[in-house]
Amino acid sequence: MFKLIDLPFDAAALEPHMSSNTLNTHHGKHHAAYINKTNAFLKERPNAPASLEDVVRLAKREQDKKLFNNAAQAWNHGFFWNCLSPQAQGEPQGELRSALEKAFGDLATFRQEAKAKGEGHFASGWLWLVADKSGAVQLTDLHDADTPIADDGVIPLSVCDLWEHAYYLDYKNERGRFLDAYLSTLINWRFAESQYEAARKGERGWTYPT
Ligand SMILES: [Fe+2]
Repeated sequence: MFKLIDLPFDAAALEPHMSSNTLNTHHGKHHAAYINKTNAFLKERPNAPASLEDVVRLAKREQDKKLFNNAAQAWNHGFFWNCLSPQAQGEPQGELRSALEKAFGDLATFRQEAKAKGEGHFASGWLWLVADKSGAVQLTDLHDADTPIADDGVIPLSVCDLWEHAYYLDYKNERGRFLDAYLSTLINWRFAESQYEAARKGERGWTYPT
């Protein structure tokens, strides 16, 4: 059984970029529902894995779409909260900065490409920044509940929720403005740097609390 993790900040801490109204619904209703449904499906599986990461991988392997969609959404949201910061953190530093500059040329180009990919994504999904085992970083947009942890070989560094419930109350249909806020202010670069360090060491990075 998995629990709805607390937000790592006060629900009003991201205002005005993300309102407490959005966060209370997004975390308290949407994320909670994904957790509850995951737990309900797992009741029917007495030998289910103990970690949410392994539940996601099992559901993907077995093509159990209902379990996958809910377990992956439960994980993705837990990860997403950690990707947001109440204090704007400026720019990435150290090895992650070097990897971003190698992949995109400079940080302005990274932001441009990330915004374009997020805006261009059709319907619901997630914009991921991931690293592979060689340390190379790339942007990838995945649909609906899909998550990089379902596949071996990459570690997510950061993510932006592209579902309308993530931004509609604050930005209406203007997903691009929401992406600007994420890329310029909300993104937790210290968390992304720690994920990148884990990727470089061959470690798993952040895991959903059990
Ligand atoms: Fe969401």
